[in-house]
Amino acid sequence: MTKTGMILPGDVSDAARVERFIRVDHAGEYGAKRIYQGQLAVLGRGPKGDILRHMQAQEEVHLRTFSELVARRRVRPTMLLPLWHVAGYALGAVTAAMGTRAAMACTVAVEEAIDEHYSAQSAQLGEDESELRDTIETFRAEELEHRDIGLENEAELAPGYRVMAAVIKAGCKVAIAVSERV
Ligand SMILES: [Fe+2]
Ligand SMILES: [Fe+2]
Repeated sequence: MTKTGMILPGDVSDAARVERFIRVDHAGEYGAKRIYQGQLAVLGRGPKGDILRHMQAQEEVHLRTFSELVARRRVRPTMLLPLWHVAGYALGAVTAAMGTRAAMACTVAVEEAIDEHYSAQSAQLGEDESELRDTIETFRAEELEHRDIGLENEAELAPGYRVMAAVIKAGCKVAIAVSERV
């Protein structure tokens, strides 16, 4: 995975790094599924219900794929899944209760953070992990589709959009950092 194949003292090994990638991606897709479940609980019967169900269905596939990778490659899942279970759902439900635009603003913020996260991972994966890299790139394209759906559905017109998006994005980055390790 590293360009030279050499592991220097203090480096995490390639195997440990890939394990961290799978752990955090599994956590993130778990949280994403919970966000959309929270949004659907509030907005599922409304005019945006089908759009939300479409994104939710893709998150289910992402989560299933990383769940299989966790099992197949014997990765320890993050211990924070119970937290993401509650926090993801709460984020979805609260933003949805603020209105469809706020719900879409949440999607834009989360998916921007995930796009950056997946890009950074993909850049660190070489040919020996091309299958994982392809998976990440496929999912990244779908996360960008979700972001675009949010923008098309007036995310930026949500009250306090800039502050809300910045707070949610910062929260995602913290969640990513801790889920890699814990
Ligand atoms: Fe996803
Ligand atoms: Fe997504």
